[in-house]
Amino acid sequence: MMTEREFPNWETLYQEQPVENMPWFNPNLDPDVEEALINLELSNGSVLDLGTGPGTQAIALAERGFQVMGTDLSEAAIHQAATKANQKGLEISFEQDDILNSHLQQSFDLILDRGCFHVLPPHSYDTYVQTVANLLQPKRYLLLKCFSQEETREQGPYRFTPEEIQQIFKEQFALHSAKQTVYHGTLDPLPKALFCILEKQ
Ligand SMILES: C[S@@+](CC[C@H](N)C(=O)[O-])C[C@H]1O[C@@H](n2cnc3c(N)ncnc32)[C@H](O)[C@@H]1O
Repeated sequence: MMTEREFPNWETLYQEQPVENMPWFNPNLDPDVEEALINLELSNGSVLDLGTGPGTQAIALAERGFQVMGTDLSEAAIHQAATKANQKGLEISFEQDDILNSHLQQSFDLILDRGCFHVLPPHSYDTYVQTVANLLQPKRYLLLKCFSQEETREQGPYRFTPEEIQQIFKEQFALHSAKQTVYHGTLDPLPKALFCILEKQ
């Protein structure tokens, strides 16, 4: 049984702190996402950036020609991400949405979750998996970046092994690959992370 981890109030955090200082802030497309797009030969279609936060990944994907929607629990995060996209002249649909009580109706060609799943409580995993599966077309991919069990910091998100990811997602997804990597952001050293590609069955 995993011990429950504690997280900030996301709305207060985005209201009070500059996004550039947040541990997950990466102004560029995450290199693991970039590599996955190349390997899976994905260069267009609709993408949901789930738990988009500062919106940097949504923006980078829109700049590469994807049709992007970014959602987050925090209204303040969504507002800042939308402002940044507007300044760049990009058409990205940013919406406040709780993935555990989602109001989204669309289905996407690709879903990116860079750091949202690993802050959710373990009792919500079934809801998460079912919701994400409903939002994805069959045979399409969920790109999931989370902390790895190899990360030793005491504080922070939940950590996973490839076997745990496979177990959690197995009813709806096949684990295509799981790579030990780092979470590219503002922490030094960068946290150890797992980058998983899951295919919806
Ligand atoms: C670690 S941050 C990652 C942000 C962003 N994906 C990135 O890579 O910069 C996790 C994000 O998940 C969002 N979040 C937490 N719980 C959520 C939920 N239930 N539904 C949607 N977003 C959530 C937080 O507000 C936060 O922006």
